[in-house]
Amino acid sequence: MSTNLFVCKQVKPISFRPFVSKVSHLIPTTTYEKRKTALERAGYNLFNLPSTMISGGDYLTDSGTGGLFDTQRSMMELHDESYAGSTSYQRFEDSFKAITGMPNILPVHQGRAAEKVLFSSLLNENCVVLSNSLFDTTRAHVENTKAKGLDLVIDECYNIESSHPFKGNIDLNKVKKAIEDANTNGKKIPFCVMTLTNNTGGGQPASMQNIRELKSLLDQYKIPLMIDACRFAENCYFIKQREPGYGNKSIEEIAKELFSYAECFTMSAKKDGIAHMGGAIGFRNPEWMDLLKPAVILNEGFINYGGMSGRDMEAVAQGLKEVLNEDYLRTRIEDTAYFADQCKKYNIPIITPPGGHAIYVDAGKLLPHLKSEEFPGQALACELYLRSGIRSCEMGSIMFGSFDEQGNLVKPHKRELVRFAIPRLVYNREHLKYAAQQLALLKQDAFRVKGMKFVSHPKVLPHFSATFNFVN
Ligand code: F0G
Repeated sequence: MSTNLFVCKQVKPISFRPFVSKVSHLIPTTTYEKRKTALERAGYNLFNLPSTMISGGDYLTDSGTGGLFDTQRSMMELHDESYAGSTSYQRFEDSFKAITGMPNILPVHQGRAAEKVLFSSLLNENCVVLSNSLFDTTRAHVENTKAKGLDLVIDECYNIESSHPFKGNIDLNKVKKAIEDANTNGKKIPFCVMTLTNNTGGGQPASMQNIRELKSLLDQYKIPLMIDACRFAENCYFIKQREPGYGNKSIEEIAKELFSYAECFTMSAKKDGIAHMGGAIGFRNPEWMDLLKPAVILNEGFINYGGMSGRDMEAVAQGLKEVLNEDYLRTRIEDTAYFADQCKKYNIPIITPPGGHAIYVDAGKLLPHLKSEEFPGQALACELYLRSGIRSCEMGSIMFGSFDEQGNLVKPHKRELVRFAIPRLVYNREHLKYAAQQLALLKQDAFRVKGMKFVSHPKVLPHFSATFNFVN
């Protein structure tokens, strides 16, 4: 890919995205009345809305919702759908091995499947899993085995205005203390997870130094380091931009160093695999193969496809190459920064510095009249949808809080956030500007936004399927 920067004498350099669209999709139009009816039907849960009712931009997730590179589509045409030993699987495995250096790869259909296979094989009620922050599905799979998951991210992560460049870092003192506590209580720590970037904490990166120091601390106790690699390339781009000593290294070199500190990884290829479906587990210890293989075969399919078609595997294999392209990554990270700048222009409270894949609005601050029990994040997301047709996602107490049997909030999350995750290769800056402007309009009469309550409350991952209503 050639450079995207043209410099003329006495004229400011013009930077534009280093790719063009070859296929377009018409965004539907909707009206306030139609959205109101759709939202009522959806039980005020934005996950229940049909995509035809999203007319202002769909920022629910960046997971599997992106565009593809033409190189991926052309490789998809070469797909080999053989049940076993396909060339598509070979390319998939080779791509993962080349970046991560892990000698053993198992395919799965998405990230949570990797978590299920790995955790159900390695964890039990006597285990504690350490992490910077576990994503919600990761925590759910840890807890499903009755093990305990601990979030040990640095305190700056919880200060939304802190300008710390690596708010996804794990706090090594907290790690040391957690290991000592586990030893005192006779608990086992089968691994420590670094989620890169830290989705729960705002899409924030961790530094190479932090990962290196964590690795040497864990080595003292023979605890393996695991990487949740969903957005590893975005994390590497931040390292290149922000960490001394990495400015002249390629993303590939940085990624290779990063994975060299890990014993294993899980990855949802729906993020930095730039694919619509797919995932993998990688590990160094050959003994894990016998342990994990049966779980993959039982739950996902044969170990040469793991729930994916040949086409999916080709998309991932090529996506892992494309994602290392610095022009692509720069555009991605700068788009997110642009969205954040637009929000800051209108004094919308957001996590700063912006993360890689999303901006996170502090609904607690924007709607100070609502208590955590009134779910300010859900109220903001629903109100914004009604007014603008934009779909976003609550990432506060509904997603991360604890509830009793009746659905009463017993432990609110530290922050009441709404995430705007930007799908890859889909939206341009006009779309992002619209979203920021709509937030600004809502801010003008934010005091009118009503709180929300549960109508139904499932026990597992309630944000996906709970239903709500506005409080009168
Ligand atoms: N780990 C992280 C850090 C994630 O962000 C996700 C998914 C997963 C694991 C699970 O992967 O969806 O393929 O099963 N995150 C999506 C999101 C759902 O919207 O952030 P999956």
